[in-house]
Amino acid sequence: MTPTDSAAGSAAPADGDDGLMEKIVSLCKRRGFIFQSAEIYGGFRSTYDYGPLGVNLLRNVKSQWWRSMVQLRTDVVGLDAAILSPPAIWEASGHLANFTDPLVDCRSCHSRWRADKIDGVCPNCGSTEFTEPRAFNLMFKTHAGPLEDEGAVAYLRPETAQGMFINFSNVLQTTRKKPPFGIAQVGKSFRNEITPQNFVFRTREFEQMEMEYFVPPAEAKQWHDYWLAERFGWYLDLGIPEERLRLRHHAADELSHYSAGTADVEFLFPWGWDELEGIANRADFDLLAHARASGETLDYFDPTTNERYVPHVIEPAAGATRTMMAFLLAAYDEDEVAGEPRTVLHLDHRLAPYQVAVLPLSKKDTLEPLTQEVLTLLQPHYMCDFDVTQGIGKRYRRQDEVGTPWCVTVDFDSLEDRAVTVRDRDSTAQVRVPVEGLLDELGSRAEV
Ligand code: GAP
Repeated sequence: MTPTDSAAGSAAPADGDDGLMEKIVSLCKRRGFIFQSAEIYGGFRSTYDYGPLGVNLLRNVKSQWWRSMVQLRTDVVGLDAAILSPPAIWEASGHLANFTDPLVDCRSCHSRWRADKIDGVCPNCGSTEFTEPRAFNLMFKTHAGPLEDEGAVAYLRPETAQGMFINFSNVLQTTRKKPPFGIAQVGKSFRNEITPQNFVFRTREFEQMEMEYFVPPAEAKQWHDYWLAERFGWYLDLGIPEERLRLRHHAADELSHYSAGTADVEFLFPWGWDELEGIANRADFDLLAHARASGETLDYFDPTTNERYVPHVIEPAAGATRTMMAFLLAAYDEDEVAGEPRTVLHLDHRLAPYQVAVLPLSKKDTLEPLTQEVLTLLQPHYMCDFDVTQGIGKRYRRQDEVGTPWCVTVDFDSLEDRAVTVRDRDSTAQVRVPVEGLLDELGSRAEV
């Protein structure tokens, strides 16, 4: 538990799992997955920059989500709505009134906490004396235009979801979809979290992957069950072990203001079970609220039954940055290869920052043309790394540590037989493959 004013840059994760969290934080920095933002100025609290490896991993998480939620379906379409938004949206959605955390100050050490997270005892000094809880709205408020007056107030969206509701009619009319159908969006959201903590688990700026699935009201329960199973399966398919994943149904007093039923997909983090994704039955709350506030009709006329109705909404809402961290934690392993310890990330090849590393055995110029030929062959199909800096054993270890599933080594024999060595990250097995057959060999390994 970190107080609200924790020092910039301190990830300070709770750690109950052999220092795993610290190892991940250190690996992320050392190898260029995640950097503390504004580090050269002492760091900016609760913001992170995704480095050369992190940006690849995060993009792969998001594109695997998009692939399963949009590309492989005919009933879901995409959207990319604005981040900057007028108060009317958040008035109607209930966020201005309800999107608050109860904030208390410790009367003894003056640290600031979320009242619902501390069981009445200050985690900093042990005092039980607090100020009365005050509702603290989590939305970032700004001004659009040159005047900083009330008429210019705008908000950074705290969730991507409202973009889908306010575009419901636009999408319905332009795509000719009919319920059940969904609108999906991936993008940044912003919340002025009182207690950002556990590295990128809870930050003030983060990315969400959300889908609003509009259904005939009578089918809401059935579709809620469908999406629970579908989303749970997505994490398993991409390599989270079943024993570290569970579904937890919310108790009635835990439900958000809009929800008629929610279950979370939870991951076993080093500090315990915690949320990756909420899958909510939002009923007709949002379309009704925006119809009422905007004066627009937000419903669906079914020409086959001559019925007009407000669809109910099932919403799988996941965090991309948080999920990326879960994939890293689940993939991390330390083992031994030929009597030497190694760190390895067993990332699924669809998520790994690089699928292939092309490694010339030596820096000698003679290997350069064939190495370049191999890179030119592979780059259109795979994200490739190229490394010529140290001995080949060290370079294999460096690739294992960042989860690269396959290394392709060009050696002096390659110049004679036009064959290269393909090394597998998990088994460390090596096979000799003709350059002409390399795409087929990797293709068969990458089949999903
Ligand atoms: N539209 C519903 C909604 O936004 P939520 O449970 O507040 O629901 C969905 O957020 C997901 O977004 C969470 O399950 C989590 O993965 C991610 N998320 C929420 N707040 C976050 C934060 N401060 N930092 C990182 N991820 C966050």
